[in-house]
Amino acid sequence: MEMTGFRHQVGGHFGLFECTGHVAKPVNAREMAFYELLTDNIRTFTPAYCGRVLVSTSISEKGELTLSTPSMFDCHKRLPHTPPSTSRPKKMRFRLKNGKVMVDLDKNENTFAGECQAKVVHRLLKNGPSWFILLENIVENFEMPCVLDLKMGTRQHGDDAPAHKVAAQMRKCAESTSALLGVRIVGMQLFDGPSGAFNFVNKLEGRKIDQQQFYDYFYLYLRACGEKRAKILKKRLEAIRNVLLEAEGFRFFSSSILVAFDAIGREDNIRVQMIDFAHSTFPGFCQDALYYGADDGYLQGVETLIAQLEFFLESFPETPESCASR
Ligand SMILES: Nc1ncnc2c1ncn2[C@@H]1O[C@H](COP(=O)(O)OP(=O)(O)OP(=O)(O)O)[C@@H](O)[C@H]1O
Ligand SMILES: [Mg+2]
Ligand SMILES: [Zn+2]
Repeated sequence: MEMTGFRHQVGGHFGLFECTGHVAKPVNAREMAFYELLTDNIRTFTPAYCGRVLVSTSISEKGELTLSTPSMFDCHKRLPHTPPSTSRPKKMRFRLKNGKVMVDLDKNENTFAGECQAKVVHRLLKNGPSWFILLENIVENFEMPCVLDLKMGTRQHGDDAPAHKVAAQMRKCAESTSALLGVRIVGMQLFDGPSGAFNFVNKLEGRKIDQQQFYDYFYLYLRACGEKRAKILKKRLEAIRNVLLEAEGFRFFSSSILVAFDAIGREDNIRVQMIDFAHSTFPGFCQDALYYGADDGYLQGVETLIAQLEFFLESFPETPESCASR
């Protein structure tokens, strides 16, 4: 089965591919084990995990690269009733030019995703086939996905991190809204109707903004969401909070909440999923150190978002451009 680049990736270190309703992410042994061993209460909030696949790449005489996996996966195909759209962009493919992996992207497109993925394709070419996990693609049925990746928690490093990484991660938390609010923006893409293009916020921007600017970006996203979706988002965050309050000993270091809706889709449709578990742990997982109680850093971030949503909904539709220091 063929895989192509995943156009709507807004964050992450490694490139993700897409195929029949899934995203394929390079295997991290801890993350794969986490998805396999996850308790049902948390699983309700994660994208479906559909196993692992071996991905290989081949190259044509013209330098066109094809990514493929020997397995077939029909478990999360695009919904049949989703109308085929002419605006839906063509598949994102890679080619080799002067020894470099290039991606076919128009300008105004998600170059961050293309660059991340080109690196992974390059590695596949160099090292041969490698394993990926398949996750339900949460934007699969969306025409113009507006996506927000929020990195949760006040601490990002796992216990397995080497000293230099601990220091770097702690600095990133201290210098960003992570330490203060328990959440920071990793990436955002918003569809802008008038220009017909997406606007992007990348992780460097997300790391350097202060509390006020964080609220401003969140409001930008919420205004695009509208009231119905914002209400659903708030309910979903409250449900995540309630489950995490009971999740004894769980820690979700460096994990995210991924939010997505379709700019031209149903107004009551919004996806809110917990993702990115390479540094997560729970009692008995991988002989990790034990933690007690709930993940307070993560919960702080969830409370920040719920409080902002309350404020947003109270003042809707006269939502202020910016929410003065509260
Ligand atoms: N199930 C999914 N459906 C749709 N998009 C997804 C899904 N999982 C991940 N993504 C996209 O891919 C990006 C990167 O994913 P993820 O955070 O898991 O990667 P990572 O390399 O482990 O991240 P980090 O650099 O934060 O450690 C996310 O920001 C999101 O845009
Ligand atoms: Mg991430
Ligand atoms: Zn599946």
